[in-house]
Amino acid sequence: MQPTQNQPIHEMQGKTMAESHVRLSQFMSPQHANAQGNVHGGEIMKLADEAGALAAMRHARSHVVTVAMDSMTFMEPIYVGNVVTLEAEVTYVGRTSMETRVVVIAENPLTGVTTTTNIAYLVYVALDSQGRPQPVPPLIAANDEERAHMQEARERQEYRKLQRAREKQRRQALDVGAPGSPHV
Ligand SMILES: CC(C)(COP(=O)(O)OP(=O)(O)OC[C@H]1O[C@@H](n2cnc3c(N)ncnc32)[C@H](O)[C@@H]1OP(=O)(O)O)[C@@H](O)C(=O)NCCC(=O)NCCS
Repeated sequence: MQPTQNQPIHEMQGKTMAESHVRLSQFMSPQHANAQGNVHGGEIMKLADEAGALAAMRHARSHVVTVAMDSMTFMEPIYVGNVVTLEAEVTYVGRTSMETRVVVIAENPLTGVTTTTNIAYLVYVALDSQGRPQPVPPLIAANDEERAHMQEARERQEYRKLQRAREKQRRQALDVGAPGSPHV
């Protein structure tokens, strides 16, 4: 069953993590390079966002927007001439939000050597046709490994909610007295 606007979550059929799985591959050419000649970190972040968004769209079957990106650590450089493959899937869902896990793998196509260079977590919110957050189907973990992924994701999302509340307070404090601020 496809989600429809304001449909109660309990009426939606659950979907497995595998159903949201996305694999994206791209050849890294000189246009992706930084000043050192390696691939620019921002290119990888953009590709991770695209892969994560596609996984979230597959789960929700709706438009989505990015609300958070964390744990985007760069463990290994990626070189021009490598093929980058991103594997993404939904690891946790709330009411309208979805966390996706994106694994980035670089391959030297001349040698076949592959390296897992990044694991990123990105959160998306499903939107209805008016651009408002819309409920998403429940997520089904099919085995113990997926259940463990889901539990870790739930903990990360709880932490993000705390961070979000703190950031809101910091932004409000910065806005006090600023031109155009509602506090002035
Ligand atoms: C997405 C958006 C419409 C949500 O509106 P909102 O008023 O914040 O709605 P809510 O507070 O109900 O949040 C919606 C969900 O997102 C989650 N969420 C929002 N910000 C989050 C964050 N920083 N980290 C994790 N989850 C977040 C909430 O926990 C909630 O999840 P749930 O429904 O599963 O419980 C609004 O935040 C927005 O437009 N953000 C900008 C998105 C964007 O432009 N992204 C591209 C940036 S370049």
